[in-house]
Amino acid sequence: MSGQYFENNPGLKHDIHEYSLSMNGNTFRFLTDSGVFSRNFFDFGSKSLVEIFKPYEGAKSFLDLGCGYGPIGTIVKKTFPFLDVTLSDVNPRAVELAEQNLLKNGVLANVILSDGFNEINQSFDLILLNPPIRAGKQIVYSLYIESEKHLNPMGELWIVIQKKQGAESSVKFLKEHFKIVEIIDKNKGYFIIKNKKVV
Ligand SMILES: C[S@@+](CC[C@H](N)C(=O)[O-])C[C@H]1O[C@@H](n2cnc3c(N)ncnc32)[C@H](O)[C@@H]1O
Repeated sequence: MSGQYFENNPGLKHDIHEYSLSMNGNTFRFLTDSGVFSRNFFDFGSKSLVEIFKPYEGAKSFLDLGCGYGPIGTIVKKTFPFLDVTLSDVNPRAVELAEQNLLKNGVLANVILSDGFNEINQSFDLILLNPPIRAGKQIVYSLYIESEKHLNPMGELWIVIQKKQGAESSVKFLKEHFKIVEIIDKNKGYFIIKNKKVV
């Protein structure tokens, strides 16, 4: 991960910042704050993930897992309006920003404050994840496993992770839990990994 962030620290002094971004033919504006991931710019890994992401035919429900201030979910909903989009994060400040950023960019989606899937009681056709590397391997791998459990049959988990942050060992682990694991891109050391649940 390229940005410093601190989870669940409501006492942290606010430092609201706004930036704009053009992607997929749309211009977006995002509010960020201290205490959220990559607060000065759209993270390169997340950008690489969103640029290459395409929903499979028939996919309807989508989860931006660990949404931060909401750039992935906002861009995906704007680009693929037919998707029913949910965003979730464990960090209350991130969740509040995600709600504001959806409104700011004129898109409707559901936002949930949740540690992993604890507060999420539905399954999805698609889950996108830029994992919280700083939270540690145990949490990252449990998000992989829980994602598999919360995918519909034929559903897909798309992940971006840097080689130096353990992309190759993630691939090895994911192969134990998903029938199809595909590295669909390697962009400047960022692996985009698509995992398909086949039942
Ligand atoms: C690498 S950041 C990605 C943020 C955002 N998707 C983006 O692209 O800017 C990972 C996010 O995962 C969140 N996170 C960490 N642990 C989590 C958990 N147990 N459950 C849900 N989200 C978590 C962090 O708060 C952080 O926002």
